[in-house]
Amino acid sequence: MTDTLTIRRPDDWHVHLRDGDMLKAVAPYTARVFGRGLIMPNLAPPVTTRKAARAYRDRIVAATGDSGFTPLMSCYLTDDAKAGDIAEGFKDGTFAAVKLYPAGATTNSTDGVTDISNVTGVLERMQQIGMPLLVHGEVTNPAVDIFDREAAFIERVLDPLLGDFPGLKVVFEHVTTSEAVAYVRDKASQVGATITAHHLLINRSDIFRGGIRPHLYCLPVAKREKHRLALRQAATSGEACFFLGTDTAPHAVSAKEAACGCAGIFTAPTALELYATVFDEEGALDKLEAFASLNGAAFYGLEPNPGSVTLSRSEAVVPETVAAGDGESVSPFMAGESCGWTVASG
Ligand code: NCD
Ligand code: ZN
Repeated sequence: MTDTLTIRRPDDWHVHLRDGDMLKAVAPYTARVFGRGLIMPNLAPPVTTRKAARAYRDRIVAATGDSGFTPLMSCYLTDDAKAGDIAEGFKDGTFAAVKLYPAGATTNSTDGVTDISNVTGVLERMQQIGMPLLVHGEVTNPAVDIFDREAAFIERVLDPLLGDFPGLKVVFEHVTTSEAVAYVRDKASQVGATITAHHLLINRSDIFRGGIRPHLYCLPVAKREKHRLALRQAATSGEACFFLGTDTAPHAVSAKEAACGCAGIFTAPTALELYATVFDEEGALDKLEAFASLNGAAFYGLEPNPGSVTLSRSEAVVPETVAAGDGESVSPFMAGESCGWTVASG
């Protein structure tokens, strides 16, 4: 039995680091193990310009100290986005990608895109220059059942989009369904997908286990068990189109434990450990490096990180809470529970 595992330093291709005191509190957890993080731009106000992205990047670098962590910035796409500024930002290294939030789909998405037809000029330019589009893949029509919104997005939005832009590189973010897994496989030359640790660990019944559990609520919401199993199979397959993106999304406890609680699960304190536990359970520890450290970098046309991280099979207890300034705290995923792997050194 393998008791230690050394892999190239991994990357997190989908991470919310927030800002201010929260940024200072959570960023070190991501920087502890990940070499790079693709930073989501859904601040309030969102990161829509090169200037805002550079300033945010500087704040992240300050919050992660001498860890060696490199934040890669994404641009929040709005109906009136300018193709020129976005393309310049890609060429000068400010932006690694553009993030499409359908308006109203999730946290801080009110400024998102109301109709894809409003951004065709930007998408054309991105296709020309090879700039990836990251999609939050859920339709927002309230008449569509929340558990069906990802599958509906494939049919109604994503498939037509790929038909119109056959050269556009797309990441289907935080996939949660067997439909999304099958679709990404089918389009693997053009489309990649991130998979979170929590969607590999919980299904929709877990959200209601013994009572309502706000810290297990995120978007896209966890689905039926058969979908969780499809995600586990995809993540551990080694296939190049699937890669690590935690979607760690901290919210203050007061915002989660509320009559209308925010969506988002904070996995950063033990993210890599949780993935390792899943890969171990699936008998696929030999595939963890591809998923965590190689496939995403290759999709983005980057070299894998130098250096490595060593994990060991020993119980690690997830912290109960993380202080986030101003008397606020954040509750990590599986707070107080243990997972089977620990990061031994990096
Ligand atoms: C994210 C957040 O809180 O910013 N929430 C979530 O449930 N995943 C936004 C997102 O990625 O949908
Ligand atoms: Zn996210």
